[in-house]
Amino acid sequence: MLEAEKIKSNWEEYRSRVNNLFPTRATQLNRLYDDLEDRMVMMPASSIAHFHNAFAGGYVDHVLRVMDCTNKLYEAWQEMGSDMSGYTQEEMMFAAMHHDLGKVGFPGDGNEVYQIETSDWHRKNMGRMYKHNENIPFTMVPDLSIWLLQEYDVKMSWTEYQAIKIHDGMYDDANKPYFVARSAQAKLKTNLPVLLHHGDHMAAQIEFERWRNNQSPKAVAPKSKETKSNAIKNLAENNPDIGKSISDIFSSFNQD
Ligand SMILES: [Fe+2]
Repeated sequence: MLEAEKIKSNWEEYRSRVNNLFPTRATQLNRLYDDLEDRMVMMPASSIAHFHNAFAGGYVDHVLRVMDCTNKLYEAWQEMGSDMSGYTQEEMMFAAMHHDLGKVGFPGDGNEVYQIETSDWHRKNMGRMYKHNENIPFTMVPDLSIWLLQEYDVKMSWTEYQAIKIHDGMYDDANKPYFVARSAQAKLKTNLPVLLHHGDHMAAQIEFERWRNNQSPKAVAPKSKETKSNAIKNLAENNPDIGKSISDIFSSFNQD
């Protein structure tokens, strides 16, 4: 969950990045974001709790993280000697910011993708916090991302288009020909699609770990008897309601 203040500051950061990073396309992008603002601010990044960021404000939080992770990976790849030519920082950030745009749904009232799951059973037993709107056409997320951008007259380069389209990497079978090239000529001309895929994966993994670590006492893998004892002690102190059972575990470690 995000605090209301964090949701607000995330959105302000998001909108300021639009103006700062894409000045020649800001007019068209701002029209898109003005239209979809109410929905985008509050929408999640996924529907299932154990996927990633399945809570209010989760989408914007995820996209900002993907942009930051991709930037960090760019620096790491550059430092390690990868060929970073063939695309600009603007193209990289544009693809990162819009890779999941299709999750917003179609323009117009009632055309959102994610609707709050009202069934307690599904929330508790399946972790399904949102359900998919059955009244809009089925789309793969990248397809709708690209359709929305063209609907609002936002021009994009082939490099940006391709990175958005195949950012799911080999998770999507349709991307296979781009990643499993049979000739040198067919290989990707830049590493941007791979970089963005890794940035997205990294962000989603971080978000999953945050969810997991909030569900139950943090899993700790102690190395020695002493750290093992301390870890369990900390666990008990930080989780008083766990009470007796943790104390029992603590004493059993002391008996090792
Ligand atoms: Fe994503």
